[in-house]
Amino acid sequence: MHCFSSTLAALAAAPLLASALPIVNRAASANVVLVFQFANVLQQLEGQFYQQGLAKFQDSDFQTAGFSSGMIATQVLSTIQSDEATHESFIQQTLIDNGATPLTCNFSFDSALADVPTLAATARVVEYIGVSAFLGGANLLDDPIFLDAAASILTVEARHQTLLNILSGTGSAIPSAFDIALTPQEVLSIAGGFITGPCNTGIIPTNPLTVNNTGPISSGTLLTVSATNITGTDGLFCNMIVGGANFAINMPLAQCVVPGGINGPVALWITNDDQPLANDVVYRGSSQQIAGPAIFFVDSQPEMLGQLVRSSPSSSDDASDGAAAAPTPTPLPPNIGPSPDGPSPDDNVIVNGVSSVPATTPSAPSP
Ligand SMILES: *[C@@H]1O[C@H](CO)[C@@H](O)[C@H](O)[C@H]1NC(C)=O
Ligand SMILES: *[C@@H]1O[C@H](CO)[C@@H](O)[C@H](O)[C@H]1NC(C)=O
Ligand SMILES: *[C@@H]1O[C@H](CO)[C@@H](O)[C@H](O)[C@H]1NC(C)=O
Repeated sequence: MHCFSSTLAALAAAPLLASALPIVNRAASANVVLVFQFANVLQQLEGQFYQQGLAKFQDSDFQTAGFSSGMIATQVLSTIQSDEATHESFIQQTLIDNGATPLTCNFSFDSALADVPTLAATARVVEYIGVSAFLGGANLLDDPIFLDAAASILTVEARHQTLLNILSGTGSAIPSAFDIALTPQEVLSIAGGFITGPCNTGIIPTNPLTVNNTGPISSGTLLTVSATNITGTDGLFCNMIVGGANFAINMPLAQCVVPGGINGPVALWITNDDQPLANDVVYRGSSQQIAGPAIFFVDSQPEMLGQLVRSSPSSSDDASDGAAAAPTPTPLPPNIGPSPDGPSPDDNVIVNGVSSVPATTPSAPSP
């Protein structure tokens, strides 16, 4: 008993922060350093985004933008900002401990911070790529000590994402039983739009893709896109990946219509091939990719939780009133062609069915 209480006393006297870091005195492999350098850039991006957003907008701005209480939004964003700053310090210290110099990058959030609804919509995407990045980087972390440390950040990023889904007003807090993993190249392709000046992680981003549609995207929306590589739609295919699917939903780009049955985040790629991209960072083919991914949200199952914090629709360009009402889901068209069950092209994975490949000629609504 005596011994136990003196241990407690010693613990209480110890500086708390020193024991709060998940890794002590552990040498990182080159892979770990690469992924942590990439995570360092992503954490800077997130931290600075929230910092600038909170500096620009007050409680009253959030209230004017339709939040039932501006304080709810600023409190959530402040908590997230503080977590991101802590993650950044931890990752940078790990890099320094391993003889690497943490990159410092500059970002511009001018358009993302144009107004409160754009801030909220951008934060939702930024936080989702945080989740996707740690998920997709996990297989590169060849030391379980660092993998656990990264995973302990990932779980917190996922909680942030849930709160931002709620703050969107139109989303489900937890829209899917599975999240989408993205490679560092894919994440940097999305994040690159915010980076200004040199920021060389040693990772080459995939060709960035922009979704042209403004306003809410729902079942039946025809998507149009732009990228440096894309002129017209001939020979091009859009690939939508949702959490938990084995493969993308692949459609000709001219008929890139969001099918029914989707709720939550969607990652969109353009390829030059009618073979659906694999939902797997290890086996996803890159040779047929032209541009992407881009992330958008389909809010087909709004929750009352969101309506508690957001009294009006969330879209930055909400032209329609009452946009929070759920669109009527249209059933998925039946599979076409031979069943995609079976081994992947490289024989490395067995695929257990795709139930959501739409027919090649869906009746597209006029744009
Ligand atoms: C970031 O911005 C600061 C201030 O404008 C500038 O001094 C610095 O060189 C920039 N760094 C990079 C990497 O662009
Ligand atoms: C454009 O796509 C082609 C493949 O069609 C690819 O080889 C090329 O690298 C792409 N360009 C960019 C900038 O991604
Ligand atoms: C998408 O937007 C870009 C930039 O505004 C424009 O140049 C392009 O023509 C648009 N593409 C389509 C298919 O609407």
